[in-house]
Amino acid sequence: MIIAPSILASDFAKLGEECRAIEAAGADWVHVDVMDGHFVPNITIGPDVVKALRPHVSIPFDCHLMISPADPYLEAFREAGADMISIHPEAGPHLNRSLTRIRQLGAKAGVVFNPSTSPSVIEYMMDDIDLILVMSINPGFGGQSFMPSQLRKIETLRGMIDASGKDIWLEVDGGVNPTTARQCADAGATALVAGSAVFKGGPGAYAGNIAALRG
Ligand code: DX5
Ligand code: ZN
Repeated sequence: MIIAPSILASDFAKLGEECRAIEAAGADWVHVDVMDGHFVPNITIGPDVVKALRPHVSIPFDCHLMISPADPYLEAFREAGADMISIHPEAGPHLNRSLTRIRQLGAKAGVVFNPSTSPSVIEYMMDDIDLILVMSINPGFGGQSFMPSQLRKIETLRGMIDASGKDIWLEVDGGVNPTTARQCADAGATALVAGSAVFKGGPGAYAGNIAALRG
């Protein structure tokens, strides 16, 4: 199971240190929540912050774009060092064009599902996707409760990935803790994002928190 701590829950005054601490604690990816105050009701960080953090760790940067439009910023995130770039289908009119662009830039392309978004959105896109991110909360804020309704969607997407024969990560984001992590794993997830559950207790607790998510 890939564990991708969301730095949204870290101490923003010490972002470099926090990234180094989660890498040392066993994190596989750094999950970066990019919000624009328009697509979601919160504003966070942009490509310049990713660029500043990139030299601090060697693990991949998993950038979750909650911005609309996303297309004008794809190149900036890639140049800043994003390894995975995930977009919401609702953020723009041409999902295939956006995914193709992300791959052209040399990053892995991800599609993010809001809780109400149907798996059918990617029915004809399986060749163009490297990562599927299922939101188990409404995007915008950390610290919310996991929505059990999304487990069935994870199972459906697991079936679609298996049927496609493609090597696609199935990642879950929102309200992930040791209990819901197990439920996600059972439903077929291969990667988990966790903010509060990783960063609670401060740096001394990160390794134990990450291990607890792996179960
Ligand atoms: C919310 C973000 C999540 C969030 C998860 O829009 O996409 O990555 O940080 O936080 P927790 O793990 O606290 O639910
Ligand atoms: Zn996220």
